[in-house]
Amino acid sequence: MAKDFERMEDSNRSGNPSIHEVSNPARRQWVQALAWMTLIGSCSPALSMGAKKQAKTDTDSRLNFQGLPPSLEDFVQVPPNYSFNVLAAWGEPVGIAGRMPSYKADASHTADEQALQMGMHHDGLVFFPINGSSVHGVVMTNHEYTDEGLLHADGTQNWSAEKVRKSQNALGFSVYEARLGVKGWQMVRPSAFARRITAATPFAIAGPAAGHRLMQTAADSEGLRVLGTLGNCASSMTPWGTYLSGEENWSYYFSAGESPSDHHKRWGLRDKSYYQWEAFDERFDAVKHPNEPNRFGWIVEVDPLDPSSTPVKRTAIGRGAHEGAWVTQTADGRAVVYSGEDARFEYIYKFISRDKIAAGGAAANRELLDHGVLYVARFEADGTGHWLPLVHGQGMLTAVNGFADQGEVLIKARQASDALGATKMDRPEWLTIDKSTGWVYCTLTNNSNRGQGKHPGVDAANPRANNTMGQIIRWKDDNGFAGDRFVWNHLLLAGDPGNERHEAKGNIQGDFFGCPDGLSMGPGGLLWIQTDVHSSQLNQGEFKRIGNNQMLVCDPATGEVKRFLTGPNMCEITGLSFTPDGTTLFINIQHPGESPTDKADPKYPNQYSSWPDHVDDNRPRSATVAIRKKDGGVIGS
Ligand code: FEO
Ligand code: CA
Ligand code: CA
Ligand code: CA
Repeated sequence: MAKDFERMEDSNRSGNPSIHEVSNPARRQWVQALAWMTLIGSCSPALSMGAKKQAKTDTDSRLNFQGLPPSLEDFVQVPPNYSFNVLAAWGEPVGIAGRMPSYKADASHTADEQALQMGMHHDGLVFFPINGSSVHGVVMTNHEYTDEGLLHADGTQNWSAEKVRKSQNALGFSVYEARLGVKGWQMVRPSAFARRITAATPFAIAGPAAGHRLMQTAADSEGLRVLGTLGNCASSMTPWGTYLSGEENWSYYFSAGESPSDHHKRWGLRDKSYYQWEAFDERFDAVKHPNEPNRFGWIVEVDPLDPSSTPVKRTAIGRGAHEGAWVTQTADGRAVVYSGEDARFEYIYKFISRDKIAAGGAAANRELLDHGVLYVARFEADGTGHWLPLVHGQGMLTAVNGFADQGEVLIKARQASDALGATKMDRPEWLTIDKSTGWVYCTLTNNSNRGQGKHPGVDAANPRANNTMGQIIRWKDDNGFAGDRFVWNHLLLAGDPGNERHEAKGNIQGDFFGCPDGLSMGPGGLLWIQTDVHSSQLNQGEFKRIGNNQMLVCDPATGEVKRFLTGPNMCEITGLSFTPDGTTLFINIQHPGESPTDKADPKYPNQYSSWPDHVDDNRPRSATVAIRKKDGGVIGS
């Protein structure tokens, strides 16, 4: 559902969300079988092209694994000389001593039990080595959203305070200890590191918007403390060893009534919330509590190795429907944080800290992300670009234009970016930074509103109308990562060359795909790409030959792309993180079996997928997959 939100949110220039959606026919087994036959039949030319490419590049390709064909099978598949194991599925206890309720296959576990178990719909994850180890560490995972039809035994019937609490307790983060043994990677339970952070856990608010009048609520008159985090999407590790996560689709938790303010409208709030929490938790009623939404949409920082630490919302990095944030450093040691907003026609940001990263890890850098300058990107048609500073008092960002101070600039980062003329992008998802070359890569997953009706038209950075397929853009800043100018180009335009519509063909060299989302530089400077084609589009129309969502590897030096992994039915592949030695790659399988309507029928929970348990009447579960090379070598080598 959040994925549908992602496709639908379009608050820029249009006051109304798009009602365009692909029709959602319920599909039965025979349709899948037919699609599979179509896939096999129609893939042959592409596969033989792939084989040619393979033959041509065998001697010089750096992608030294056997690429996979597209798949419609309800399994994870990896190349022949690789293996994997599944761990930490939704509902498994995270391992808090004496408080480890087991998963119940009928979802009858209580809200209190859910607060001790892995949450739902895993998204970003990071492996934190213990003492530098590549066989023992702490894994921290985001839980992006819930499917209430799977979360509760009887779905949304008899909506109650208990169900709202269970929903809140299935969100946030899970932290667990893991070790590599003879059965692969397993959770270590109990563990002193085990922790759940939910949509009800206290967070500190830090940076220029902390204490701001727009952050103050009835429950928090000081504007310094907020309960919970929402819509956590991508994640990353900072150079000082903490976890960063973006709050993305938080707007769908709030109801703004029939006459929302311009501010609420610009942030995508609707008359009614999607989740109806406000029926039992009044702070999500934005008519009564108009500032509560301002306390979401931030980059949050957590120290996963200190279970007693308070998570923090870092307001200096700006507010948004943030996918995530990724950190590198300037030549003189200041932190550079790139982030983007995954919503149609929203923006890409960069923050440079005032102070240098200090030696001494998390404890020595507690306020590093609270002071610095935020910029928003403008991509010019000539392949150059500018980082425009979001600084109160400069240019349009003054009181007369509605920005009383720096806190208001950050709380209203969208409006501030509108005022500066930043470039409206095709839904920025993950970013990754190649520290050796200086290129920063970003997936722009799709934007079917581009160039349609009254929506913004194409531009050089977002060059396709009705952009169903997405693209990967990259830029390189002047002066290392410190400059306010950059050069940019596209690494690739995603798509299937077999499609009739020119804008859906793409220009991929090698295995084709659509809707890039997860992205990370891996060992040897190879780029790992994960896809998120929505369940209502998978294996249909322009996506007919692409198969289930997947993970591919690209050599950015040559542009060659090869398919490394295919996922189970109706899932999204996300959340990649390598061990320090590159011999294990952790990913998340998110929402296997998601209904094309985004709402599971609790009577038929495994209608579309039984992964990973594959037993009668089970509920499909998001889970982590740990991938290894059978010879123990570096992944992708
Ligand atoms: Fe939650 Fe933009 O992926
Ligand atoms: Ca998603
Ligand atoms: Ca995503
Ligand atoms: Ca996505």
